[in-house]
Amino acid sequence: MRPNIAIILAGGIGSRLGLSTPKQFFKVAGKMVVEHTIDAFERNPHISEIAIVSNPFYVADMENIVLQGGWKKVKRILKGGKERYDSSLAAIRAYSGQDVNLVFHDAVRPLVSQRIIDDVCDALTRCEAIDVTLPAVDTIICAEGDHIGSIPDRSLLQRGQTPQAFRLSVIETAYERALKDPNFKVTDDCGVVVKYLPEVPVYLVPGEEANMKLTYKEDTYLIDKFFQLRGSELPAAPASLDALRGKVAVVFGGSYGIGHDIVAQLYAAGTRVHAFARSTTGTDVGSRESVAEALKGVAKAEGRIDYIINTAGVLNKEPLHAMAQETIEAAVRTNYMGTVNVALEAYPYLKETRGKLVFFTSSSYTRGRAFYSIYSSTKAAIVNFVQAVAQEWEAAGIAVNCINPERTKTPMRVKNFGTEPDDTLLRSEDVAEVTVRSLLSDYTGQVIDVKRKK
Ligand code: CTP
Repeated sequence: MRPNIAIILAGGIGSRLGLSTPKQFFKVAGKMVVEHTIDAFERNPHISEIAIVSNPFYVADMENIVLQGGWKKVKRILKGGKERYDSSLAAIRAYSGQDVNLVFHDAVRPLVSQRIIDDVCDALTRCEAIDVTLPAVDTIICAEGDHIGSIPDRSLLQRGQTPQAFRLSVIETAYERALKDPNFKVTDDCGVVVKYLPEVPVYLVPGEEANMKLTYKEDTYLIDKFFQLRGSELPAAPASLDALRGKVAVVFGGSYGIGHDIVAQLYAAGTRVHAFARSTTGTDVGSRESVAEALKGVAKAEGRIDYIINTAGVLNKEPLHAMAQETIEAAVRTNYMGTVNVALEAYPYLKETRGKLVFFTSSSYTRGRAFYSIYSSTKAAIVNFVQAVAQEWEAAGIAVNCINPERTKTPMRVKNFGTEPDDTLLRSEDVAEVTVRSLLSDYTGQVIDVKRKK
């Protein structure tokens, strides 16, 4: 099969966004836009290599980003040209003569999904040119001066996104012909094939609204929100959990529910696991001393700690004005201060082992819900905290993530909601399984979604 090479187009300056540096360097959800984009292609198993086309004035910056990023697939940084098509041409020339597919993607579309990349690569096994499009939502007007000239039938119109992917020989031939045309007008890469190689059909893969292009200031808010809502899903299950054998793990809130299942699964994987909970060991994550004492004991007994997981949390489903002051304070202390306390006390141990820290949020973190004001706001705070601390501790090699399970059958849920039909809830064993797998991933600063298998 022909290898698929991702070409990340980052040759522009983002004049419409108007920042002091090009928009591909804008930071959102803990990373630069271009880093998110590279991550998406690095993670996709159908992409064998990545080349970045950089703005010539920012090649050194791009080299630094690549050195820091540690991606394994990034093989080249090419110099882009004045227009976008000059940047595409730089990549076409760099791979000229090879039997490969080129998958062009705007560096400034960081939310490209694995589904889109999968579908594009799948289409490349059957077709020689692929575009990613979405139906037009607004009515499109052909203006003549300051009047309407005509209104094309909207049902026929699509909006083009990227990736745009081609067999190299196809896009190369199309450009060869285009460059000989004295009337060659700048269009996108698919447009060059449509005009100069009309015999090659361009297949359409459905795009996504979230695969938006960072263009204007307003887009920065939207992209930020999309990142928050998207979360991450872990890549497919690793072949074996062998890497967990002999590691030392601490689970707070490990006496029942999800925490209990995590303890059981780690134990089965050969991890040396220590469980702490208020009901069994008297450990209260709301008290920093209590957390410190627990970790000190484990470090003394084992000599190291590799993973620290905090599942301790309380949920009181009550209207705010009806809640007793002590209940409010206890919930904030356990859910929020518990997170902060565990992180602070975990730091020295995890720094030694370049270990991992895992917290839990809830699907209510994106939007407050009546009767959960304290619970959902503390869960939102945990996400923000995880993103911040993941950045601060990246250099120390500590990964910090949070798990975001859908509604899960746990004793805490049954207490608040009564018995609900099993087929509407996640099993706590499944949440535990994702949590355990997250320890084998290289994620940090991520909200890892766990969804019920439909
Ligand atoms: N691009 C490129 N080389 C160029 C121009 C653009 O590689 N000479 C890339 C941009 O870096 C971006 C993508 O093409 O990832 C989409 O282009 P656009 O949104 O137009 O980016 P800019 O040209 O940077 O933005 P602006 O038009 O606002 O200056």
